[in-house]
Amino acid sequence: MRCFIAVELTNGARQEVAALQADLCRTSADVKWVEPENLHLTLKFLGEVAEDQLPALKGVLQQTTLHLSPFTLTLEGVGAFPRPQHPRVIWVGIKEGSEALTALAGAVEEACGTFVLSPSKGEWSFSPHLTIGRVHSGEHLSELVKKLKEVSFQASVPATIDRLILFQSILSRNSPTYTPLESFLLRTT
Ligand code: 2AM
Repeated sequence: MRCFIAVELTNGARQEVAALQADLCRTSADVKWVEPENLHLTLKFLGEVAEDQLPALKGVLQQTTLHLSPFTLTLEGVGAFPRPQHPRVIWVGIKEGSEALTALAGAVEEACGTFVLSPSKGEWSFSPHLTIGRVHSGEHLSELVKKLKEVSFQASVPATIDRLILFQSILSRNSPTYTPLESFLLRTT
């Protein structure tokens, strides 16, 4: 099973990001925009996980989230990896909650490391971001580069992050299907 661990957005945040995507989409650049229902903040991409490893993985995630608290997150800013002048992945940034999200991703990394599930090569690093689109080709890319310089984004409502979710990802020619396998509540304070 292809799996990853992520946190989800509120419906309000999805709608605000969808409006931003609709604006960026007016350029003719060849971008696959992430569908609103598929928007998520990835904490750890696991890749293939054997089904018999799932109970143990769920167990460590359960233990990990027991010791963490919910936090507030606000989305702000638009950018691109590797560079705004050479966009491959278009993202929305995180203002409030960035440190808490990084701490959560670090805890998840440590938990998964116990099972040697896709340990990060070299030093672990995490760039808090929300992927909103992926560039497919260089077609009309200069329009997108220009638009990325002009556009600004600030979500109006903060989101409460109170759980992480283990997803299964099924790839297909059109859009991937992300199925939640289990949610892990962050301990309430
Ligand atoms: P990202 O877009 O935030 O980087 C589900 O496929 C999620 O896992 C994607 O949204 C992506 O998160 C991340 N992902 C997919 N393939 C990956 C890979 N090969 N290495 C690292 N992260 C990956």
